Amino acid sequence: MLGRTLLSVGAFVGALVRPVSSQSPTTTSFRSIFTVPASADASVPLIPNINDPQAVNAQEVCPGYKASNVKQTTSGLTADLSLAGTACNVYGTDVDALSLTVEYQSDDRLHVEITPTYVDSSNSSWFVLPEALVPKPTIDAHGNSSLQDNDLKFAWSNDPNFSFTVIRQSTGDVLFSTTGSQLVFENQFIEFSSSLPENYNLYGLGEVIHGLRMGNNFTRTFWAADVGDPIDYNIYGDHTFFLDTRYFEKDEKTGNLTYAPNATDPTAKYVSYSHGVYMRNSHGQEVLMRPSNITWRTLGGSIDLYFYAGPTQKEVTKAYQTSTTGLPAMQQYFTFGYHQCRWGYTNWTELQEVVDSFASFGIPLENIWTDIDYMNQYRDFENDQGRFGYAEGAKFLSQLHANGQHYIPIVDSAIYVPNPENASDAYPIFDRGNATDSFMLNPDGSLYIGEVWPGYTVFPDWIGSVLNGTGAFEWWSDEVERWYTNVHFDGIWIDMSEVSSFCVGSCGSDNLTMNPVHPGFQLPGEPGNIIYTYPEGFNITNTTEYASASSASVAQASSASVAAGPAPASTSTTYIRTTPTPNVRSLEYPPYVLNNINGALDVHAVSPNATHHGGTVEYDYHNLFGHQILNATYHALLGVFPGKRPFIIGRSTFAGSGRWAGHWGGDNTSLWAYMFFSIPQALSFSLFGIPMFGVDTCGFNGNTDEELCNRWMQLSAFFPFYRNHNTLSAIPQEPFRWASVAEASKVAMQIRYTLLPYIYTTFYLAHSTGSTVMRALAWEFPNDPTLAAADRQFLLGDSLMVTPVLAQGATSVGGVFPGVADGEVWYDWYNQSAITAAPGQNITIDAPLGHIPVYLRGGSVLPTQEPGMTTKASRSNPWGLIAAIGKGGNAKGQLYMDDGESLVPNATRLVQFSLTHGALHAAGKGAYVDTNPLANVTILGVQSSISRVTLNNASISTGWTYNDTSKVLDIKGLSNVTFAGAWSRDWVLRWS
Ligand code: NOJ
Repeated sequence: MLGRTLLSVGAFVGALVRPVSSQSPTTTSFRSIFTVPASADASVPLIPNINDPQAVNAQEVCPGYKASNVKQTTSGLTADLSLAGTACNVYGTDVDALSLTVEYQSDDRLHVEITPTYVDSSNSSWFVLPEALVPKPTIDAHGNSSLQDNDLKFAWSNDPNFSFTVIRQSTGDVLFSTTGSQLVFENQFIEFSSSLPENYNLYGLGEVIHGLRMGNNFTRTFWAADVGDPIDYNIYGDHTFFLDTRYFEKDEKTGNLTYAPNATDPTAKYVSYSHGVYMRNSHGQEVLMRPSNITWRTLGGSIDLYFYAGPTQKEVTKAYQTSTTGLPAMQQYFTFGYHQCRWGYTNWTELQEVVDSFASFGIPLENIWTDIDYMNQYRDFENDQGRFGYAEGAKFLSQLHANGQHYIPIVDSAIYVPNPENASDAYPIFDRGNATDSFMLNPDGSLYIGEVWPGYTVFPDWIGSVLNGTGAFEWWSDEVERWYTNVHFDGIWIDMSEVSSFCVGSCGSDNLTMNPVHPGFQLPGEPGNIIYTYPEGFNITNTTEYASASSASVAQASSASVAAGPAPASTSTTYIRTTPTPNVRSLEYPPYVLNNINGALDVHAVSPNATHHGGTVEYDYHNLFGHQILNATYHALLGVFPGKRPFIIGRSTFAGSGRWAGHWGGDNTSLWAYMFFSIPQALSFSLFGIPMFGVDTCGFNGNTDEELCNRWMQLSAFFPFYRNHNTLSAIPQEPFRWASVAEASKVAMQIRYTLLPYIYTTFYLAHSTGSTVMRALAWEFPNDPTLAAADRQFLLGDSLMVTPVLAQGATSVGGVFPGVADGEVWYDWYNQSAITAAPGQNITIDAPLGHIPVYLRGGSVLPTQEPGMTTKASRSNPWGLIAAIGKGGNAKGQLYMDDGESLVPNATRLVQFSLTHGALHAAGKGAYVDTNPLANVTILGVQSSISRVTLNNASISTGWTYNDTSKVLDIKGLSNVTFAGAWSRDWVLRWS
């Protein structure tokens, strides 16, 4: 079918329109264009079910199910479940016949699925998530998928109603049990509950701004939302996966395990067992964590649960990725360099100035980004020719690329619809998409037209494209390729992909002649929305500036309240409560009300009634828009750069997005609190299989200040994705803006760039095995229950621990050195000496501004390279190794090398390092050739004095030193003997 026609007023029935013209229009002085009234994006009054005193408890009124016709299968069992009494129809229509499938899918994975028995495509009220959109883990082809080999055991009961239990056979521990609760399965509401042990430890369930450990009284809402990082609410992405870690006291003699919910006895021996649970369901949903149980409530779909036996976090995470989400995309080497961005770089000249400033301050800059400022009136795939012209851009980019630097522009999710009455408002990108059925529709088949930055917009229909073969994927690839001919970008930043729309419903259908429009809120920096906020402690460190900012802020607030007029007399809110209609789904206002940050589901997002080609509705797919735009962009970039790893950073993500893209933590605020939250957020994304993660360093919303930016530039240097990003009109925060921040950044970047080979290798291992890059202390030291909630320190890979200062005004930081009770050794990165720490001791570490405590873990060998100003320069510098001798006098590590960019490199090389008893061996495999010599090897923890050093038995007579105080053997002068390349042949370095 060819393109849809644009509608004129009143030309349709059933379109989701809230007529803007019926509300008082205003224009903004900032851009003299029509401003959509804020009311166009307001929620109807709803009270979230979890806060509603009148809410019916489904457990009290629903009849549950009985199992029958239970049949053993080669991999598990199947059964019929039928409603055990009168339908309760509490938040939808009860489904009376369900099918249960249980599969032992591998020796560590169990699948429990409950779906309606009669899924009838003509009855749109039942929904099962298509595998084409979110693949299903399957029974292992070579696996030992027999009941006997799996440590997980499924059991069920009909007493009094159907319930099921998952047990870890080796310990007898009940991991999940719906015993004592009713299964509720309706067309718009599914509920099941499991008991959980006292003081349980759950992790994951993102995306949320929260500590790493979820806690025992917390509701997680899953509904992708465009909202700037409110604490504990739903935000951009949806990952309905959790890790459950349980600590036990182990009797050394009998081996008996006793659950230890409050394990604090320093003399006791503990062990932990972890398992994972993933609910494959794309609907809006809620997970209620309560002191003794967990309850899952979804607005549709099926129960599609996967249990991963572990028993360690590492095994759970690997199994989740290899079987379920797919392994994370390998990134190009350059992406680990430093990224500079802001909303508000106004032209190529300014960009050039920023690039030049980095150079003149001697701060490495690898990637420069532009936000929507480069666009022609905020339209995708078109540059503003006055400020970001193609010819000038070509010059800028060719110079940038010649310097080994890169450029990443933003691409938004919504596509501008031109004003039909303005012939000069042509936008061929829209026309081509419309002609190929690439956009979402209203139920009547007209285009769904919402509103984002450029004005009234349509939204790519990824779902129709995947399920019904309409054009969105191909059209998107084509647009990306066309645009590349004008702008030689190196990757793409995908934004607004929840998918965000600034008005309720198809608000643009009747109003296209107003295009372009200004959103119904003031942009940062516009009159009335001048940014006056600063981080905590600014009142102490910058008293005068703080005083003037705070009085200006008070004046702004009072003039806003004068403009708004007197507050309306308070009236008690009458909430809308939807009563279920048999077999009909209420898509905009489902009877069960999620605790969505934006209120109703149709607020600040494309409405759930929006329709995909093929007839499916956004209600069922809302949480997948962000996932599928990453899929589309990944394939588009493969078209632009055949054979090269696409570099994409996306905002809204779903289980599996990591195989296409990385993620940034969205719109945080320039506050110390948000710097802290970046750590648990990153660690959660490690669990989700999206290791390429980082946040807006120095903070996005609000102004930052020197001290916060100083600390944050240092902290983010140890995150895989390292980018400084800032909102429109906030004070500039590039690291060169303050001398101390420039210096602190250089210090941290020097460490990062030195460690690039280690970071790249760690990332490669994540990509190839499902291991993690940023790691929680609890994962590396699983038998120490005191680390269960530790999220103020973290590891980068398995060998480096970071203990950042996270508090304003602090000049020291408390940190633990895990594992010392079992002989773990830690070395200070800077002075290279071993740390003295007692088990569990929280040590006060000196950390004046500009210093970030970093520790090397004994037992590790880390490959390094002399840092350059770009990753390209670093890659042609001499190599080094840091070997930190661990317990037992040993250490090991590895180095992965390839061309740094190919999807399937034609040559790779993996070098294994092992240190035992005064000898360090390097043994490589693979054909990748690198000719840089080995400049130095630093060995930490050498206990006795050294008189002789040899490389492959040839004596190294000069260039090495041994420091008897720090116990460091520093061997330089190896370049001459390794001039053909540090790793071109195997070698052994000995000292005695
Ligand atoms: C929202 C994004 O989260 C933010 O990073 C960006 O600067 C703005 N959109 C403007 O494009």
